Amino acid sequence: METVLSGIRSTGNLHLGNYFGAIKNFVKMQHEYRCFFFIADYHSLTTHPKPADLHDNVRQVLAEYLATGLDPEAATLYVQSDVPEIPELYLMLNMNAYLGELERTTTFKDKARQQPDNVNAGLLTYPVLMAADIIIHKATKVPVGKDQEQNLEMARKFARRFNTMYGVEVFPEPEAFNFGEQLVKIPGLDGTGKMGKSDGNGIYLAEDPKSIRKKVMAAVTDSGPTVPGSPVSEPIQNLFTLLEVVSTPDTLAHFQAAYADCTIRYGDLKKQLAEDIIRFTEPIRERIVSIRDDREYLGKVVRMGAEKARASASQTLREVRETIGFKPF
Ligand code: TYM
Repeated sequence: METVLSGIRSTGNLHLGNYFGAIKNFVKMQHEYRCFFFIADYHSLTTHPKPADLHDNVRQVLAEYLATGLDPEAATLYVQSDVPEIPELYLMLNMNAYLGELERTTTFKDKARQQPDNVNAGLLTYPVLMAADIIIHKATKVPVGKDQEQNLEMARKFARRFNTMYGVEVFPEPEAFNFGEQLVKIPGLDGTGKMGKSDGNGIYLAEDPKSIRKKVMAAVTDSGPTVPGSPVSEPIQNLFTLLEVVSTPDTLAHFQAAYADCTIRYGDLKKQLAEDIIRFTEPIRERIVSIRDDREYLGKVVRMGAEKARASASQTLREVRETIGFKPF
């Protein structure tokens, strides 16, 4: 059976981009594949979270994962830092990862630009840790959004390199995967770019309806089409993309037609979009609230997840250590 793995950094609440990029199809497939889903808390250290916040961030993301429909009995749901085999494999993979290729990674270049005072080695080797996350379970399918495509390419490269270097077939090559659909990029509300955690342009799964309406009504638009067949600007295309994921096909078609014949009123589109987002997020939000404070349940879930994840990870690590030449005295 194929192994599927996906992860999310614990640096903030889950947003619609995370859901449609990495979670939606996973929830559907968790009963048909060997599935791993984890919270990347080591990855969150690149931005130096306060010790007092770290645990709460992980707990929040865990509750949000569960609220989306992840079944911890069917899938293995765990916290990265509960699995020491991951940093051990990361250390070994780092020996075969080269400065030039790491410096050329787009995500590294972006981060180095965003946080020029904190260009740490963890940022540089971020794709190596990601590769370790994936190949420690020999995963072949990795549901991610479009933004992670290059990191997946790196993971493939590191897996292949290990095999070639030692003349073995320890690791299969993982691929970015969205269950037959294109990898998606969910846009933000500020007119350009993707929905993100840090950019303040996102709608969170745990967000209350009032705040969703306010954000959507404030989304960037343009001055509207003036002649039939006017090209669609990026901010408007972004709103259509959001309609595409949360609204019915009829609603999308209605506003597309109104755009084409220049009768569109952006206020109407936004009102509809906000209501459709609320209809989608409301049940998830209710579940988040009911799960978040159930520490006993959350504790049970992560302990079970850690046990299952370590069983799988330690098996791979044993093979890796043997391949490299470590032997017991
Ligand atoms: P992170 O936490 O930034 O995002 C988690 C997942 O959500 C997807 N995503 C999006 N998809 C579409 N549109 C968007 N606007 C959008 N924003 C986020 C991401 O593509 C990702 O799939 N490095 C990873 C976490 C990670 C990981 C891994 C993922 C660590 N190890 C191993 C997969 C496999 C990250 O920071 O994702």
